[in-house]
Amino acid sequence: MTKIKGLRDIEPYVAGSQPKEKNIIKLNTNENAYGPSPKVGQALTHFDVHDLRKYSTLDQENLRIALGKQLGVDPNQIIVGNGSDDILSMAFLSFFNSAEPVLFPDLTYGFYKVWAELYHIQYHEMPLNEKFEVEVADYFADNGGIVLANPNAPTGIFKPLDEIEKIIQANQDVVVIVDEAYINFGGQTALPLLKKYDNLFITRTFSKDASLAGLRVGYGIGSPKLMAVINAVKNSVNPYNVDSIAECLAIAAVESWDYYDNTCQKIMESRDWFSDELKAIGFQVLPSTANFILTRPAGISAEDLFNYLQSKQIYVRYFPKVERIKDYLRISIGKQEEMEKVITTIQELLP
Ligand SMILES: Cc1ncc(COP(=O)(O)O)c(C=O)c1O
Repeated sequence: MTKIKGLRDIEPYVAGSQPKEKNIIKLNTNENAYGPSPKVGQALTHFDVHDLRKYSTLDQENLRIALGKQLGVDPNQIIVGNGSDDILSMAFLSFFNSAEPVLFPDLTYGFYKVWAELYHIQYHEMPLNEKFEVEVADYFADNGGIVLANPNAPTGIFKPLDEIEKIIQANQDVVVIVDEAYINFGGQTALPLLKKYDNLFITRTFSKDASLAGLRVGYGIGSPKLMAVINAVKNSVNPYNVDSIAECLAIAAVESWDYYDNTCQKIMESRDWFSDELKAIGFQVLPSTANFILTRPAGISAEDLFNYLQSKQIYVRYFPKVERIKDYLRISIGKQEEMEKVITTIQELLP
């Protein structure tokens, strides 16, 4: 067979599986078990299908206005995307074009490395310390930009805002991206720092707190200087990156945020309860400020527990290829009754 020239060789990001079976407890991709607010359902029912004949809005002005009001930021400082993956991917393309390496932790959202490779961006992975925490001083080295998930994934550990600020302050000649995918589960947002630093770019998603992972909506917030660049890149890749239904439903979600305050609160309570239960049976549990926990089982290997739980229709995430956490499982926090089922299922195996 003739060899085809020009084909790209890339090791892709491996997302958690989406099993087809019903009646499973799905705790493997940090989704939100409570589902979207009733207002989102109503917005979908009332969406006029005839409107789909037109392209979607180019700049999601109505959604940006709603978000601007919710967050207290100028809507012109917001860009919306097809999930925050879309925003982060465009941010890498837009902001990391220097010869120096971009810095991010060795243990963080696996996609950062994939985008760096895809876009031929030099990078250094800075090891988290032995407690799986970001070491602020590591980010004072020369670099071409910084990406930090806060809270971090898959650890769930949150870095206080004053420490994040030290990193932003010390790196004002490059862009610092703070990925706040999990911020509404008890973290402290970097939004107030936007007034002080025009090198800060914050990304957010509707996939976790707003329980709309399937809708694919995320957004970025930054200074006018950064917005001009990322909007130009967006319009060079896929100007209609957000579909009309997604924009309409995301607006309904923002306008019914009371519902989400309540469901996020329930998730945080279940997380803390679940962590205590695991600790009581000897498991190590990292302190989480997200909608998942990272745990090192006791009395059974991570692999065996993963397989056992799966045999009981409970899906969690296991990272056998990631050396530092190959003995750990990441478990998303579902509804309280689901977490109780996980605990009783584990107790049946490890009395
Ligand atoms: C840290 C982090 N950032 C970004 C994302 C992407 O989320 P989405 O593309 O669904 O907005 C995820 C998804 O799991 C994540 O864990």
